[in-house]
Amino acid sequence: MSTQNRILLSPPHMSGEERTLVEGAFDSNWIAPVGPAVDAFEREICETVGIEHACALSSGTAAIHLGLLLLGVQPGDLVLCSSMTFVASANPILMCGAQPVFVDSDPETWCMSVPALKRVLNRLAEEGRTPRACVAVSLYGQSADLPTIEGLCSEHGVKLLDEAAEALGAMHGDRMAGTFGDLGVYSFNGNKIITTSGGGALVGRDEAVIKKARFLATQARDPSPIGAYEHSTTGFNYRLSNVLSAIGLGQLRVLEDRIESRRRIFDRYQSELVDIEEISWMPDAGHGRSTRWLTCGLLRNQDQRDALITHLDESDIEARPAWKPMHLQPLFNESAYEPHSNGDDVSSRLFASGFCLPSGSSLSTDEQGRVIDSIRTFFH
Ligand SMILES: Cc1ncc(COP(=O)(O)O)c(C=O)c1O
Repeated sequence: MSTQNRILLSPPHMSGEERTLVEGAFDSNWIAPVGPAVDAFEREICETVGIEHACALSSGTAAIHLGLLLLGVQPGDLVLCSSMTFVASANPILMCGAQPVFVDSDPETWCMSVPALKRVLNRLAEEGRTPRACVAVSLYGQSADLPTIEGLCSEHGVKLLDEAAEALGAMHGDRMAGTFGDLGVYSFNGNKIITTSGGGALVGRDEAVIKKARFLATQARDPSPIGAYEHSTTGFNYRLSNVLSAIGLGQLRVLEDRIESRRRIFDRYQSELVDIEEISWMPDAGHGRSTRWLTCGLLRNQDQRDALITHLDESDIEARPAWKPMHLQPLFNESAYEPHSNGDDVSSRLFASGFCLPSGSSLSTDEQGRVIDSIRTFFH
């Protein structure tokens, strides 16, 4: 039996300060989905990403759901959404009773294809249909071409949800992913660049909208001078706990450090495996800073990719295929899909041979070496 530790894809990485901050929450007895750490976490999220308002929530999925509701998504509406993403980008569209229309990836960013978005917007306009919203996902720590997507959406009267669940700290020019469009989303799930174990945030410029998010996230209780329970709209139990917000406060303080570590890990994989011609790495879009949340690459074909993942698994190393696009999921087999170009279904190609390597900021130099050696063994 192997005695070495299994190397995980993206485990949590505490700074040490979180424990003290959590003790502070215990000492004050704010063991509730409200309290000073929640307020401070929201303020610090705003300062970190450069936005006016934030609502801390129990998950990124909750943030997408509330975001879509606040953008006015109603049953029967069309909502555009990146196809290559985790299912949580798209499930809230169904939760709103709306219909997703999936948009392919650009081969240079792996994020939403601008030509596909343009084409689908024009075609729907010719049919006299306007999608209510667009969920543009910044994938694996790389921002989508958000200014262009924002421009196209506003030209067509479509609200933009800047879905940066995987891309806290990613930049487009001098702006952070998550701060474009009408509302933005972050996730603090356990596998993200910083974590509250589980959590998320909805951010935006309009104070009234973010206040409404807090209202909906706490069961939509109508104001009452004596705290009575009166409800005139459907609410949710989506607020982030004060205890978990305390973890988030400690994590936000080391965000830049975590980004640097993940970028260094990507650089090392790339430079030490440069002679393995079968691998091509996820491109750097060149329009800003990718956090390299996960180091991703492509192999020659699916058989080779699957064999590499199995080989790494046998060496106690967790690797994963790239996201399976939503338009290939049985859940969405009735949904429309717009490819990058006629005859080029980019996200299906990326899925077929794409893989993600261990990328956690706590990955030691030796562990990185173990991953690299195991990949070299596979190819030689
Ligand atoms: C692209 C994307 N969107 C949404 C989510 C959902 O976030 P959460 O797990 O916080 O609900 C995740 C990850 O978990 C994600 O990777």
